[in-house]
Amino acid sequence: MSIDIAVVPVAGLGTRLLPATKSQPKEMLPVGRKPVAQHVVDELALSGIRRLLFITGKGKNSIENHFDIDGELITYLRQTGREQELAELDFERQEMEYFYTRQRRQLGLGHAVLCARPLVGNQPFVVALGDSVIGLNAESDIVARMVEQFERADADVVVAFEEVPWDDVNRYGIAQPRGPVDDVFELERLVEKPGPTEAPSNLAVAARYVLSPAIFEKLAETAPGKGDEIQLTDAIQLILENGGKGYGLRLRPNERRFDIGNFGSYFRAFTEFALADPKYGPGLREFIRSLVKEG
Ligand code: UTP
Repeated sequence: MSIDIAVVPVAGLGTRLLPATKSQPKEMLPVGRKPVAQHVVDELALSGIRRLLFITGKGKNSIENHFDIDGELITYLRQTGREQELAELDFERQEMEYFYTRQRRQLGLGHAVLCARPLVGNQPFVVALGDSVIGLNAESDIVARMVEQFERADADVVVAFEEVPWDDVNRYGIAQPRGPVDDVFELERLVEKPGPTEAPSNLAVAARYVLSPAIFEKLAETAPGKGDEIQLTDAIQLILENGGKGYGLRLRPNERRFDIGNFGSYFRAFTEFALADPKYGPGLREFIRSLVKEG
């Protein structure tokens, strides 16, 4: 059976979005009409994911509530004839099984993935960061293409990459490809936050991974790195160094990564999704135009 399980870490503190994230998870901030976490789940469903394990933490209960079936609300909307609003809850019934576990200490993304080990066990799996949406309205099948590559090439690691401006490479994990770079390329190494002169490429890790269960061993061996956190990229690097087969997939131009981790990128993501809204987008465009003219 093809890979149908995804781990979605959402346990981070979101300190770069304070005060908005003081008592609500950043993954529940709206981007357009939906919270970020729903965009992520919709995208994964489109790629054939059917089992989803959220790694949650303190203050993240509203994520679980969001994906529950709310019988009371459905009855109320039905009884009051609110068919359109009812349709907005269709996502509750999509073919997906939800699991939740908690990261009890904030030891980084790598540690959050390690928390999935007892549930994932000895099978390959997808990791999708819960604070990043891929493609406008999450209309991307990048994960399906990554799974296909993982299975076709009998790989150990497949990572999604996005081209970023060379001046920004020092903010990301960057790919060192082996051989020519096409939509799919062999991954020799990951370099964490290199300067523009030493960066081997401008291909930045883009929040989606397919991993063999061997990653759990490596995560357990990985010493805390930057910020005293266990880094997922360090464990991937260990796999590659030990002869593991790694591939990169480039995001297509229509599947940009919308990162919700800081206000600059969050504001841009919200604006772009709102502008694409069929009902309110055109009016908003006019409004923004008038604001910009006045300014
Ligand atoms: P970030 O690197 O953006 O960290 O996490 P953060 O803690 O959420 O945010 P800041 O830096 O304090 O503003 C990237 C992804 O990894 C998850 C986050 O929820 C996010 O989806 N994460 C991070 C965890 O699940 N656990 C952690 O310990 C750290």
